[in-house]
Amino acid sequence: MSKLWGGRFTKKTDQLVEEYTASIMFDKELAEEDVQGSLAHVTMLGKQGILPADDVDKIKDGLHRVLQRIKRDDIEFSIGDEDIHMNIEKTLIDDVGSVGGKLHTGRSRNDQVATDMHLWLRKRVVEFVDMLYKLQLALIGQAKDNLDTIVPGYTHLQRAQPILFAHHLMAYVSMFGRDIERLQDSYKRINVLPLGAGALAGTTFPIDRHFVASQLKFDRVYENSLDAVSDRDFIVEFLADASIIMMHLSRLSEELILWSSTEFHFVELDDAFCTGSSIMPQKKNPDVPELVRGKTGRVYGDLVGLLTVLKSLPLAYNKDMQEDKEGMFDTVKTLQGALQLFAPMIATMKVNKERMRQAVNQDFSNATDIADFLVGKGLPFRQAHEVIGKTVLYCIEQNKYLLDLTLEEFKQFSSLFDDRIYAVLQPEQVVNARNVYGGTAKPQVQDAIGRAELALENTAAWVTEYLERSR
Ligand code: ARG
Repeated sequence: MSKLWGGRFTKKTDQLVEEYTASIMFDKELAEEDVQGSLAHVTMLGKQGILPADDVDKIKDGLHRVLQRIKRDDIEFSIGDEDIHMNIEKTLIDDVGSVGGKLHTGRSRNDQVATDMHLWLRKRVVEFVDMLYKLQLALIGQAKDNLDTIVPGYTHLQRAQPILFAHHLMAYVSMFGRDIERLQDSYKRINVLPLGAGALAGTTFPIDRHFVASQLKFDRVYENSLDAVSDRDFIVEFLADASIIMMHLSRLSEELILWSSTEFHFVELDDAFCTGSSIMPQKKNPDVPELVRGKTGRVYGDLVGLLTVLKSLPLAYNKDMQEDKEGMFDTVKTLQGALQLFAPMIATMKVNKERMRQAVNQDFSNATDIADFLVGKGLPFRQAHEVIGKTVLYCIEQNKYLLDLTLEEFKQFSSLFDDRIYAVLQPEQVVNARNVYGGTAKPQVQDAIGRAELALENTAAWVTEYLERSR
């Protein structure tokens, strides 16, 4: 008998069908988790008296040997054995003999594969929280070095109001903080045990699902056996979380690319993170952020791909669901690649403080502040807006900035102006005037950094605890 399920068949599987339906080429990634699940399952079969202790010991010893071989990359998986579950079962039977055939008692590949995926993904989620933590650390480091660096803030990519560069960087710390929260929250739904659902309806054997759950450090077991084998929400959710992370990274990438251009020249990425041109000797290209921006597309693709696989799919298991894996593996690889480069790239980035200052001095981003000055003098904001609009127009015609105007020139537009406006217009003053919770004033940004560092400590503790729990 060559196939584990060969009994009902009289003809060999068509070679092309065998290749088409196999998943071993990619699900071998789940090999260690598959053994981990099997060890817990067979331990439970022994505890429940479903298998004699002797058989359980033989199977467990065999599984440990298989695990060592997996770690040494010493098993030749075969397409003929279709997927990782049957490849491992075959390898076990080759090792321990026919007693290995008792391992699959009270179990189906349907609850087995789901268990493997839960075990695999929960580790990745903890690793991603750790990687996001390191990126936040790098951003906070740069923010601390740039607490006095003033840069134009933009809306519509037009200069709007000056801000601290630290404040801009801390916006990304907040964004990645939400990503961390999302991943942490998703852990609850990943850390649920499907095993024991059988093919779809449960099993006739007196198994103990809660014991298996505790062996594998799952917090809960699936309530419904059909749901247990049909549910891929936890992967969809992960892909959605990953898509949002990539979206955030792509926004930061876009800014780094803009800031690295000669036109902005706000930052310089370290040589180690850039490449040159094969024809233009002067070029230093920001390839890493460009590729991260580009690779965002494939992660969105993986999300939409899986949502589409699952759409309208009847309960319970369908072979369509084998399509859940490649996208998940691809997204994990893509996200790992991006995050592992981003933290050191941010940490080593040079910030061109003078150039930023120059940009701030040569714009009208302090216009709101003199409008606010007139409001302070009792003028309704709408009228103040109109007055400053005319003043700015005058400046543009005269090729001047607001700070270049004499008091007489200001007074042409409103008699309310006095010489205190020159202080009001200074970039430091403009920045520090926004002294509200969450604003760009230096003390507020310092507070924000303090709060972020506190959150970092909590994240680090979470990672330590959950790395242990997901082993
Ligand atoms: N390779 C399959 C998958 O990844 C495992 C489950 C197969 N179950 C089945 N009834 N054919 O989905």
